[in-house]
Amino acid sequence: DMKLLIDTDPGIDDAMAIIFAARHPDIELVGLTTVFGNVAVETATRNALVLVEHCGLDIPVAEGAARPLVLPPFEFPAHIHGADGFGHLPAMQPTNQKATESAVEFMTRIARENPGEITLCPVGPITNVAEAIRHDPDFSSNIKRIVIMGGALDAPGNISPFAEANTFHDPHALEIVLASGADVLMIGLDVTLQVTLQAEDFRALADAAPHDGGLLDGMAELYLEFYQSVGKEGCALHDPMAVIACLHPELFTVEHTAMTCIDHGERIGQTLRSTGRAPVAVALDCQAQSIREMFLNVIRNAA
Ligand code: BDR
Ligand code: CA
Repeated sequence: DMKLLIDTDPGIDDAMAIIFAARHPDIELVGLTTVFGNVAVETATRNALVLVEHCGLDIPVAEGAARPLVLPPFEFPAHIHGADGFGHLPAMQPTNQKATESAVEFMTRIARENPGEITLCPVGPITNVAEAIRHDPDFSSNIKRIVIMGGALDAPGNISPFAEANTFHDPHALEIVLASGADVLMIGLDVTLQVTLQAEDFRALADAAPHDGGLLDGMAELYLEFYQSVGKEGCALHDPMAVIACLHPELFTVEHTAMTCIDHGERIGQTLRSTGRAPVAVALDCQAQSIREMFLNVIRNAA
């Protein structure tokens, strides 16, 4: 099994990614670390605990950064993910508790104890990962691979004409990760906008797998309303696609190139090809139909 650590800001597509990972027979989810992004970090932690409990898992949830490394705090996008992160669903109270370790402590320790075995999948602003790299000089070599949901290479941005939301919210952190020499795969808007789910898909999931599909269907209502408000039928599978890429990189066409992230000005958060540092893999295309079916099948089959 693949040992997977998801660094997350749940968040509706984050919830989709976490449930997918929990249900996939070949993934061993070793923990969740949380970060600000779609919601405040305390809310992200509460939602991660709710999802762990929902999935019947017994894994640590370690709380991470409350704000970007350098940029000032910002207003969370309640119009996309809801005031409490799960769309129109009211806030839920978990009965389990967050870990006593911080996200950086947990991340660096589990990587050190399992060298070359942990795949890290950051699907929010990448602040915790940058802090882990700073905190532990061996972290980027202890970790097997970092599969990032973030960035846009040839595609336009989604939060500005130039930037994807996760890279926009902490470009300084991404720059540290891109310069770290870690084995990095970037799953950005060039591929994540190719796979969408419609309201009917969520309803069918709710019928076939009431426990997981029902929860996702409830959350998805607001998410779909947001996409509709920007002229799109159906919502993107951003975060689940990064998890799928951890397990099935062969479903993605990648370019190997050094990358950088702009950290100031109107292009802040834009990810660009660069030189003078180790190349990373950037996904430019994907087998959208297979990815879509894999997501739906894993949720359905777990019922
Ligand atoms: C990314 O931004 C967040 O809103 C989503 O959860 C996803 O991680 C997409 O740009
Ligand atoms: Ca996310």
